[in-house]
Amino acid sequence: MADYDLVIRGGTVGTASAVFDADVAIAGESIVAVGRGLPAGKREIDARGRLVLPGGVDAHAHIEQLSGMGVMNADTFETATGSSALGGTTTVVCFAAQHKGKSLTRVVEDYHALARKGTIVDYALHMILADPTETVLKEELPPLVKSGHASIKLFMTYQHTKVDDEQLLDTLIAARENKALVCVHAENNGMISWMGRRLVERGYRAPQYHAVHHPRLCETEAIYRLCAFAELVDQPVIVYHVSTAEGAAVIRDARGRGIKVFGETCTQYLTLTVDDLVKPGIEGAKWICSPPLRQVSDQEALWKALELGDLQFVSSDHAPYRFDDTGKLRAGPDPSFKEVANGMPGLELRLPLLFDAMVAKGRYGIEKFVEWTASAPARMYGLHPRKGSIAIGADADICIWDPKRRTTISDATVHDNAGYTPYAGRTIEGWPVSVVRRGEIVVDDGKLKASAGSGVFLPREAGEAAVPTGRLSPEFDEARNFGARLY
Ligand code: URP
Ligand code: ZN
Ligand code: ZN
Repeated sequence: MADYDLVIRGGTVGTASAVFDADVAIAGESIVAVGRGLPAGKREIDARGRLVLPGGVDAHAHIEQLSGMGVMNADTFETATGSSALGGTTTVVCFAAQHKGKSLTRVVEDYHALARKGTIVDYALHMILADPTETVLKEELPPLVKSGHASIKLFMTYQHTKVDDEQLLDTLIAARENKALVCVHAENNGMISWMGRRLVERGYRAPQYHAVHHPRLCETEAIYRLCAFAELVDQPVIVYHVSTAEGAAVIRDARGRGIKVFGETCTQYLTLTVDDLVKPGIEGAKWICSPPLRQVSDQEALWKALELGDLQFVSSDHAPYRFDDTGKLRAGPDPSFKEVANGMPGLELRLPLLFDAMVAKGRYGIEKFVEWTASAPARMYGLHPRKGSIAIGADADICIWDPKRRTTISDATVHDNAGYTPYAGRTIEGWPVSVVRRGEIVVDDGKLKASAGSGVFLPREAGEAAVPTGRLSPEFDEARNFGARLY
């Protein structure tokens, strides 16, 4: 008699490579058997008519974090990760955000303390470096990477967090030496501030001008520059939240030349457009995020880029701010687009919106859905094989989907602390009705059962994505050989 704690019985299991009918057995926190007619468990979930998919891995979520504009997120770890679990995402990679002058070690400790107290799903941390001094890069970074923080995030824009080109190169080299991956918010800061000043001077203050403020070229230019840096020093990078066809094309071109550049896009760039910013009064501020929402043609190009493998996965970039004086309207009731906190909530609805857009609408199969929302981000960020798959030995992080359930989204149906959702009014098909995290049923028929602090930290070594190609650019190599102490 097998000693299973939980058996998910009679469902259709989906992974990134196959879809098949099977039971899934769990002992303790792990998956221990996948097959038909498994012996009884101490508990059972009847999954007949349901899909049994890996819990989602959201590799880009801002939680209880001070933003690059200096605004605090609306969520605590508890509210963000509770909503995450309710939407089927059982692993988040969020940020420990250094601001200028702060010790990175201290910052990482502080974010761990917040996460330990509140998190309901398992978490890992990217380290945002806003002040990559020699002390930070040479003394603080190495032990932090060794203790499981194997990814760094840099911003090429935003007042409080942007780094210049030399700092970016210094950080890429430090990442290379420490075997860490570098993720980058790639937008040209000068173009943004120049455009913003001129627009506001001429009276164009409404939320919709945010899209003009961040021209498409500011993404194209920054991604191109980043790819050149990555090529120069042979350090893999991931471009965050690619929003334009041209941005994806720059990545495709760089990858075609053998440079290790990877790309993420986000739910909002696949499911919303710039027209969502056009609303009466200040309402459109709810849809202000950076990069801004783009065109239907960009959506098509981003799906294509995912299909081709130029982009590898889809994150939420969850960045919740309330539509009041604590968040979006902190500069007053009628701010210019420049003063509105950038970002929108998205952790909870990432999987349901993508399931609807991909699987329910028949555009892609379940395998691609699992790959882009769970398996690929787990692999890229060193969480595989523990997370992102249904396989023996993996953590038992599983969503049981009702593929036919129709849900009309409203501000009242979401559970984060933003107080609104950019997707209100949509009806979508498919919902993760029950969710298991490391063997524990954390969502039971739509009800959250887990307590704050029950998630754990996931220390990571950098995944395969972070390994350099071994081909330094000839110019950089030459400088080394001539004895210039560049590397
Ligand atoms: O508008 C956004 N995306 N805000 C969150 C911070 C970032 O840019 O990643
Ligand atoms: Zn960003
Ligand atoms: Zn972000």
